[in-house]
Amino acid sequence: MPNLIFYQKIKINKGEYVKLNIFSAAQPSGIPTLGNYIGTIRSWNAFQKNYNSIYCIADLHAITKRQNPKLLLKNSLDLLSIYLSCDIDPKISTIFMQSHRPEHTQLSWMLSCYTYFGELKRMVQFKEKSKNNKNINIGLFSYPILMASDILLYQTHKVPAGLDQAQHIELSKLIAKRFNKIYNSNIFNVPELIITQSGSRIMALSNPKKKMSKSDKNKNNFISLLDSEESIIRKIKNAQTDSDQPPVIKYDVIKKPGISNLLCILSELTGKNIIELETYFSNKLYRDLKLEVIHTVLEHIKKIQKKYFSIRSKEKYLIEILQSGSEKAKKIANNTLSKVKNAIGLHS
Ligand code: TRP
Repeated sequence: MPNLIFYQKIKINKGEYVKLNIFSAAQPSGIPTLGNYIGTIRSWNAFQKNYNSIYCIADLHAITKRQNPKLLLKNSLDLLSIYLSCDIDPKISTIFMQSHRPEHTQLSWMLSCYTYFGELKRMVQFKEKSKNNKNINIGLFSYPILMASDILLYQTHKVPAGLDQAQHIELSKLIAKRFNKIYNSNIFNVPELIITQSGSRIMALSNPKKKMSKSDKNKNNFISLLDSEESIIRKIKNAQTDSDQPPVIKYDVIKKPGISNLLCILSELTGKNIIELETYFSNKLYRDLKLEVIHTVLEHIKKIQKKYFSIRSKEKYLIEILQSGSEKAKKIANNTLSKVKNAIGLHS
């Protein structure tokens, strides 16, 4: 992750250096993909050293879609185990479950009184999620307010997330500024998005014009972090390339989306830049590129899986991490919530 170094800002406070606060979250809706790993989770680990980091499991966001009650906790523990396997360290970072902290829904109600219908109606993700959906519930609509509450409760400076979350984070900024202005205060830090993927997105393997997503109906389009070795090999071998003769291994998202996607995966995982890779692969075959991608992906994923399978069975340990994370989160969340209530004139 060579680009992360640029983001390590430290604020000076009364001659003292303080770490900035980072907050991010993912929904427990299935095992993350290689795209999620490269795009976000991997960077969370890198941020821990230089920021006060808080990472949340957004189970309340997940229920905007109907969930199987027997699977929700299991999915959350799966996700927690993935965080831990990607070396997010509970001794350094605060890791907790959104539904364990009532402050999130409390603040969410309050902030919904400072957010306009028109603002939510413009959200691209809401429009997309409403398509072909019989369950367009109010939670799906007010989802960005809960997200703003997640972020604003922890006096967040930076939110490492994918580009698809940019509009939600812009809204969080707007709400924070609006609230601060109304009450002539600095109750909320105004957060900023850190785009963690160096300007690129990991695309679906057999349709590289769309994003790699764990909800894709075609399982060949994504690599789950828990996929078996055989299926990873098969999926990469079958990834779409093109029929250029002679084969050209060059980054060109428009003309060569498949090759560009493979180069991008390789570049992200090895830290080598694309130009370096293009030179290395000049006069080589698509098969050579794929073999290299397979080798690199397996190297990363096997390490994660080894850790995952040793951690996932220790449910007591996992629950303890969430409990202590929730206690740590409580102090900060309570502090912000009382300031908000005071400002509004609500008294406890
Ligand atoms: N909505 C985010 C997603 O689906 C998850 C999320 C919830 C989040 N709360 C957040 C991300 C706060 C960043 C900050 O990916």
